Amino acid sequence: MSLLEFQNVSFANDDKTILKNLSVSIDQGDFISIVGPSGSGKSTFLKLCSHLISPTNGKINFKGNNFIDYSPTELRKSIAYCFQTPYLFGDTVMENINFPFSIRNVKLDQKRVSELFFLFHMTIDYLNKDTKNLSGGEKQRIALIRSLLFKPEILLLDEITSALDVDNTKIVENVITSLNKEGITVLWITHNLEQSRKYANKLLAIEAGEIKSLEVLK
Ligand SMILES: Nc1ncnc2c1ncn2[C@@H]1O[C@H](COP(=O)(O)OP(=O)(O)OP(=O)(O)O)[C@@H](O)[C@H]1O
Ligand SMILES: [Mg+2]
Repeated sequence: MSLLEFQNVSFANDDKTILKNLSVSIDQGDFISIVGPSGSGKSTFLKLCSHLISPTNGKINFKGNNFIDYSPTELRKSIAYCFQTPYLFGDTVMENINFPFSIRNVKLDQKRVSELFFLFHMTIDYLNKDTKNLSGGEKQRIALIRSLLFKPEILLLDEITSALDVDNTKIVENVITSLNKEGITVLWITHNLEQSRKYANKLLAIEAGEIKSLEVLK
């Protein structure tokens, strides 16, 4: 049984068809790179995977059951989506880091927080910083840490390294590949062709709202 399965999924908005008749199966442990021209529908595809939007036609199954049979909170805990433009809320980094704990009604796990800041080569002094003053790359890493405090089953990454320098890109790539080795399924949109082939076991190309190819790399 596949972990996530699209069956003839289409998505239209304002009479414009953005994705047409997609059928694809994603297996547990897959690392799928998603490539395609700007405006081809890649981000829309990840938004469907995370249930931020719903298909206008067709259906999506998660572990063999239709998405609509799950509660949105249940899906949100299992499937994490990191936006192309990182979204932080409130005034401080701490508010963002505390959020995943507060929605689960558990105390902040200082050890887990420190571990993740360490993995991303950031100091925990960031916790007291004002989100307004962070650089694009810092916001992106904080958003990633927020998604990883509780390990998701599927991690959806939308061009998350485009604002990062070479060193930080490498750090993020290392964290993501080691999470994938631990069994987390990864879907990663990238415009970087070298990055798209380096870590993935499958390469999904989307063009003009359709699947152009699904290449098995290893
Ligand atoms: N909610 C929406 N309503 C109307 N049109 C939309 C909506 N969301 C996306 N689109 C349009 O659908 C198309 C696909 O958008 P999408 O963001 O999925 O592209 P993308 O492949 O991620 O592009 P990029 O590489 O530039 O991020 C674009 O033409 C976009 O303008
Ligand atoms: Mg996009």
